[in-house]
Amino acid sequence: MPAISFQHVGKTYPGARGAVQALDDVSFDIEPGEFFGLLGPNGAGKTTLISILAGLARATSGSVTVLGHDVVTDYAQARRSLGIVPQELVFDPFFSVRESLRIQGGYFGVRTDAKANDAWIDELLANLGLSDKADANMRQLSGGMKRRVLVAQALVHRPPVIVLDEPTAGVDVELRQTLWQFVARLNKEGHTVLLTTHYLEEAEALCGRLAMLKQGRVVALDRTSALLAGTASTMLRFKMDAPLPPQLVGQSRVTGRIVQITAHDAHEVETILGVLRNAGCQPEDLEIGRADLEDVFLEIMNGAPRISAPVGVAA
Ligand SMILES: Nc1ncnc2c1ncn2[C@@H]1O[C@H](COP(=O)(O)OP(=O)(O)OP(=O)(O)O)[C@@H](O)[C@H]1O
Ligand SMILES: [Mg+2]
Repeated sequence: MPAISFQHVGKTYPGARGAVQALDDVSFDIEPGEFFGLLGPNGAGKTTLISILAGLARATSGSVTVLGHDVVTDYAQARRSLGIVPQELVFDPFFSVRESLRIQGGYFGVRTDAKANDAWIDELLANLGLSDKADANMRQLSGGMKRRVLVAQALVHRPPVIVLDEPTAGVDVELRQTLWQFVARLNKEGHTVLLTTHYLEEAEALCGRLAMLKQGRVVALDRTSALLAGTASTMLRFKMDAPLPPQLVGQSRVTGRIVQITAHDAHEVETILGVLRNAGCQPEDLEIGRADLEDVFLEIMNGAPRISAPVGVAA
């Protein structure tokens, strides 16, 4: 049984200037134990999909299950199986960090009276660098600290399936590392993880399998390694003041003076260098390296969809 199953999910929001189709026939399964990444540009539909999973929004069509529980007809069981870190910061300003975690645990049937869950709460606080803030009021926390509390809240009832919607947005480098160590540990211990992020190097490092959404549709679904292997595998990077020769524009990314050009093999690298030489270009600080997930992402967003056979094998 999949940890999460999306079947033909569609979502249309009514809008003043016509309906917005946020999701269009989204189907994929996430198997128990997977560390799965959901990627896509702003507005692609990631948060909408997670809201439907969490029961916060209704799909216009299709169905979603968590460990076999339908998120609409079996809401309580589905919701209890999930720990969700929302993209938006929402919190109750009247409680301390520890109180809010006890209350959150209470929603999911974790006993709060005898402080039964406090050992786990302490472990969460320690792992998220919040130990010294346990008694601070939520109002007194910085933005990054509030986000840490949201992560703790999501995990307080030890859910088998953990969903993180851009958990590292606005979070400092140190916490990012601690957070990923902790989430990776939970994943090793058997928790399924669904992550959305715009930090593609995080997704590349952590996720065994990825789905990419574009305008509400799944345009890539495969193991991370297969997505990386199936792309132009080499990347030339250099600095240049002159404009690029027109033959190279289609396969290049230009950021200020920095030019990146994808190549499929050594022969193509030679060809590109030849084109530059013939055009009288003088690339500075030339480096030749492996394409990364950002290159794959841009390639897919600019055209070729990449859907593998729907296998749900964990990395
Ligand atoms: N409550 C809503 N009412 C109307 N339209 C909405 C609502 N929520 C989202 N949308 C629209 O649905 C589309 C998908 O939005 P969504 O928030 O799911 O994107 P996202 O992939 O999470 O983007 P981001 O990376 O910016 O978080 C967008 O066009 C957005 O404007
Ligand atoms: Mg979002």
